[in-house]
Amino acid sequence: MRLIFDTPENIALRAAKRYSDLLAAKPNAVLAFATGSTPLGLYKQLIELYRNKEISFKEAITFNLDEYAGIGREHPQSYYRFMMEHLFSHIDLDPSRIHLPSGTDVSDAAMHGYEDAIKSAGGIDLQLLGIGNNGHIGFNEPGTPFASQTHLVTLSDSTRIANARFFETMDKVPTRAVTMGIRTVMNARSIIMIALGKSKAAAVHSALFGEVTPSCPASVLQLHPNVEVYLDMAAGGEF
Ligand code: F6R
Repeated sequence: MRLIFDTPENIALRAAKRYSDLLAAKPNAVLAFATGSTPLGLYKQLIELYRNKEISFKEAITFNLDEYAGIGREHPQSYYRFMMEHLFSHIDLDPSRIHLPSGTDVSDAAMHGYEDAIKSAGGIDLQLLGIGNNGHIGFNEPGTPFASQTHLVTLSDSTRIANARFFETMDKVPTRAVTMGIRTVMNARSIIMIALGKSKAAAVHSALFGEVTPSCPASVLQLHPNVEVYLDMAAGGEF
């Protein structure tokens, strides 16, 4: 595991460089993206690189980590809409190569289908992760087995409260979501985790230096051979 400390601006630049290097070497790379506040700087930077003709997503294939259950793609707070707004509609990604879990078909067949689609694409080359205040990755909340694959989850109260800022009222925050499992994430050939801000410091510390335990889902990353963790001084401030 490689730890990189920098400002949020430089983290966005350095992480974006990982994508331009990867896509230059492998134009049809399989990229797995995350939503939330953390990757926004990186997504801006990727759009900038695309506008400057320094990167092309034409042949790339994308999978997203998660999607709220019970809302469709057209819902303003769906992760599909989030990705379209903050990245996909600004780059040359082929819409047929975009994959997010379905929020409306939460059948077992749909969960298996998502795993199968990742496998048929050749597996994930680069997985992007944020981290929850409770150590979650994707929506794999504390206690999720490390062997989990794409599955339906009930969101913890702390996650719903953290995400309430995107919804009008607390009762509009979905209670369930579909997420890639921890094994799905760990099967990626390389992983970038970004953590920004003081609210992430305790979770980051347990994830990187604590016991490897399902109580802190991100601690599983200690077992992955190719992880880069980008931290600003606030998130890395406890060590
Ligand atoms: C989002 C996701 C979550 C977030 C995490 C941090 O697709 O999988 O694990 O990465 O909740 O969220 P932010 O970046 O909003 O602090």
